Amino acid sequence: TRPIRIAPSILSADFARLGAEVTAIDRAGADYIHVDVMDGHFVPNLTIGPIVVSALRPHSTKPFDVHLMIAPVDPYIPAFAEAGADIITVHAEAGPHLHRSLQLIRSLGRKAGVSLNPGTPAEAAIAVLDMVDLVLVMSVNPGFGGQGFIASQLEKIARLRAAIDATGRQIDLEVDGGINVETARRVVAAGADVLVAGTASFAGGESAYAENIRRLREAA
Ligand code: DX5
Ligand code: ZN
Repeated sequence: TRPIRIAPSILSADFARLGAEVTAIDRAGADYIHVDVMDGHFVPNLTIGPIVVSALRPHSTKPFDVHLMIAPVDPYIPAFAEAGADIITVHAEAGPHLHRSLQLIRSLGRKAGVSLNPGTPAEAAIAVLDMVDLVLVMSVNPGFGGQGFIASQLEKIARLRAAIDATGRQIDLEVDGGINVETARRVVAAGADVLVAGTASFAGGESAYAENIRRLREAA
């Protein structure tokens, strides 16, 4: 059985004390720190840029899993690599040159991920599977935390699990959006092995974080 990793999204953290929140969620058992970058253009919300990633970097030793919901994306990839991102994920829908973006990420020595919106078929990631270390299936329309899980994505997860297994390579299959104890169980059954969770990780304040992560891991 695959080890399940939990990637808390700091989008649900207290932005006024982000460094302390990153440290707290790391100590509570996070495997990756998931950073949601939004540009008010590719998605209808604005969040953080490389300067914040760089400021947060000393606050955790866990891999920074940076999810770029921005278009164009290529001009910003070097700055996120420089800021300390370990995994840089770009959306297949962000532009006509997905493969070039993945080449750029790898040329900077970082792990490359491809993300698919709910309306984008699995084939968009399968076409570039040889260029990625992670596939991120969005189970909500990206832009905001706290939305409801879109169950039609389970079939896409299963298709991607089969395609990833056929490569024989280690490629993370991550799911993002509406993950809680109940949906965690369903996405892992479909083949996911990395769970992004914002609301479910940061609920109840700092004293609850370890228990939140433990419950997600146990459900999976
Ligand atoms: C959505 C972001 C997600 C989001 C997840 O655009 O990519 O990472 O913060 O939040 P929850 O877990 O609350 O659905
Ligand atoms: Zn995300």
